[in-house]
Order: sequence, then structure tokens, then C-alpha cells
Amino acid sequence: AEAEAEVETQVEIDAEVDTLEEGVLQVCSDVPYPPFEYYDADGNVVGFDIDIATAISDALGLELEIIESSWDGIESGVALNAQDCDLAISGMTITEERAGNMLFSEPYLDDNLGLLATADSGITSTDDLDDVPVGVQAATTGHDYAQDELGLDDVTQYEDSGLMLQGLEAGQVEAIVGNISIIGYQAGDDERFEFVEEIDTGEQLGIAAQLDNQELIDAVDQVLAELEESGALQEIEQAWFHS
Ligand code: ARG
Repeated sequence: AEAEAEVETQVEIDAEVDTLEEGVLQVCSDVPYPPFEYYDADGNVVGFDIDIATAISDALGLELEIIESSWDGIESGVALNAQDCDLAISGMTITEERAGNMLFSEPYLDDNLGLLATADSGITSTDDLDDVPVGVQAATTGHDYAQDELGLDDVTQYEDSGLMLQGLEAGQVEAIVGNISIIGYQAGDDERFEFVEEIDTGEQLGIAAQLDNQELIDAVDQVLAELEESGALQEIEQAWFHS
């Protein structure tokens, strides 16, 4: 899955929006979260989300600037509300709580949770986690699920998903609960990890704007609808998640 997506994503929409900085669409993202957003070998931020953000900025005739932000700031709405950026795109699940602090686009990807373990852990399902050190990315849907649904009160919280995966690699934790979209990608053909099970949470990912920026979210929805209709959205997804 190293190859970058080369999909025709040029769409035309009828919209004009004001941005924080003239001519620029500033988009907050929590990097790394592969394959949504991560650094390639040349140090560029690339990924599924970045392709979508690029299609949006192109359609609006704006230059795209990716602003690396903490996940905490993004999911709480603080990054948007402090006007750090016009949009946030970060593999973020649309939740009711978050929707109180930001405006969400229509969903652009479906997701679920999953359980990833070290290959020699002997873990065969989420029922086996009681005395096992488990890691999550703090303030994510995986964190909520581990705590509230699985009742694990001693999860190790990582600030970003890169650190979470390093924790698993280093044996700090024996399993992680996170979105299947990144866990499946990590498990890939890495023999040190074993994909244990999918947890059907029916999550939907959305792009977010400041609560009062309906105009921008309408434009984002237009772009998403065009990408979906042309098949480009599915092609980008295929390129990043299934190659
Ligand atoms: N989908 C999950 C959530 O919204 C995790 C997203 C984490 N994204 C990231 N870029 N670290 O809670």
C-alpha cells in the first residue's frame, strides 16, 4: 500500500467560501494515522484524507495547507473553534457529542473497530482481554469502546496512533482497540501482529468545520457528492486501503 493514489479527482462545484486566510484552505489533521494521513519517505503528508482535502481545495480554487494538530484539539472542536483551521479531516467518527462542538459533513467513509494483538499473545477475542495490557489512542471511539463496552479500566492511552503502534511493537501492550481501517492496514502482512476480530460499531467518518460555517460544509458536501457520483471516491478508497 505504498503507492500514492493517482485518481482523477477534479470536480467542479458552484460555491464560493470565505476562509481564515485568503486563497488558502487550512485543514487540521492529526498525523500519523496511516493510511489516512502520514509522512511518506520524502516527508510529505499523504493519504486518503489528504486526497479528499486536495479535491475540496481544488474545487474551491484554494491552496491547501495541512496544519498538523493534536487529536485532542481536533476531536474536542478546540482546533476549529480557536480558528486554527477552516476544516478538520482526521479519520474522525461522527458522534453526537462531537456534533455539539463542530459541523460535520455527510459521511465520506464507513468504519468499524477492530482488535489487533501481537502474534504470540494467544488472544482470540475481546473476551480474552481482562488481564491483558491493552492500548488505545486517547479520546477516540476505540478508547470509549474499551472503557465503556469492554469494561477495561486499565487501558494505556496513547496521544497518537503512531505511539500506540510503537507500544504494541515494543510489547508495552499486547493488544490495541482501534479503527479497523488502520488496524487492517497495519496488520497487512506484518507477521508480528495478528488481526483478531472486527467489532461492528457502524461508525461513519466526517469532515468538520466551525459550528457557524454552514457555507463551507455545504461546499464540502457538494464535492463529496460529486466524487461519489463520478466513482472517484471509491477509487481513492481502493487505492489507499486495498492495494
Ligand atoms: N475514528 C476514530 C475517532 O474518531 C479515531 C480517529 C483518529 N484519527 C487520527 N487522525 N488520529 O475517534
